[in-house]
Amino acid sequence: MSPKILGVGYSVPDHRVTNQDLAQVIDTNDAWITERTGIKTRYLSNHENTSDLAVMAAQRAIKDAQIDPQMIDCILVATLTPDAMMPCTAALVQAKLNLNSQRMMVFDLNGACSGFILALQTIDALIQSGQVTMALVIGAETLSKILDYSDRSTAVLFGDGAGAFVVGQDQICKPWVHFVNTQGDTEQTLTTDGVELNGSLRNIQGQTPYLRMKGQAVFRFAVKAVEDAIRQILLKSNLSIEEIDLIIPHQANARILSHVAEKMKFPMDKFVMNMDEFGNTSSASIPIAYAQAKSKGLIHQDMNIILVGFGAGLIWAGTLIEL
Ligand code: ACO
Repeated sequence: MSPKILGVGYSVPDHRVTNQDLAQVIDTNDAWITERTGIKTRYLSNHENTSDLAVMAAQRAIKDAQIDPQMIDCILVATLTPDAMMPCTAALVQAKLNLNSQRMMVFDLNGACSGFILALQTIDALIQSGQVTMALVIGAETLSKILDYSDRSTAVLFGDGAGAFVVGQDQICKPWVHFVNTQGDTEQTLTTDGVELNGSLRNIQGQTPYLRMKGQAVFRFAVKAVEDAIRQILLKSNLSIEEIDLIIPHQANARILSHVAEKMKFPMDKFVMNMDEFGNTSSASIPIAYAQAKSKGLIHQDMNIILVGFGAGLIWAGTLIEL
């Protein structure tokens, strides 16, 4: 049995924030953000939490797949910004969607910006083992919860959103091809503040684990990581770069992707990019980009598509899907 994408969907909060809006509250400007990152707008949540965005994306993916939602027997949410430490966001999604099949496995996975790829790789294994037959795989984030607006070089980059795939099983689909690697982040390139230990029985109030990033180090890592993931997938699948129709990467920064495209002599227009509209939504960025590309008619039968994630860990990962 191979996995097959049956339907996709995405959602973003109502509140759209332009670079000019940000410049009203932090010392930045549209020209700097656009030139360094390619980002023009992002959506920041006022009232939708991660599970709310995940549910909206899932409902759209279920509609796209035209399946009976009660057939779903697994919900996997990739997120680094869950609603709460427990229960897992996937359990909240199950409750909000009122899904009650005879057996149901739910769990969250935190692989930061590579999280959605790790989730696809996990679901592939669960489907092949026969443990799961129909899964909701979701990447969902409310990164605005952990942004420090006094740190202008990170605060302008991120947005909130969710993307979802319904993944079923199929006997004739080509198997997905995966790659993943991790390099321990000894330099603390991409982290959040830790939550303090509390063995002293004090009440620690108001600890927000803000996101911290060493931008140039991330940039150097990302350029190498994206190229490596693509090359490893090509090697494993015995395909040439010319045989790849689309690459759907994590949407961190347009300059990272143009460096990779130039190095690999790969036409830039084969990279699906939408960070201009959504900013960097971490584990949600790849499924949002896929679902948006599908709704624009860019994804067709018989295409070879590589999905690539890279980020905190430092993890980088890719999956080839032959439609
Ligand atoms: N607006 C205006 N000026 C700014 C801003 C801002 N938002 N942020 C920083 N600056 C200023 C700095 O203060 C500095 O000014 P100075 O020269 O007077 O000291 C100047 O711009 C250059 O600052 P750098 O930090 O050196 O800027 P850099 O050119 O490295 O660009 C950036 C920063 C965009 C973050 C870049 O390092 C980058 O693209 N890194 C990749 C990181 C990335 O994409 N992360 C995404 C999250 S991780 C992930 O998803 C994998």
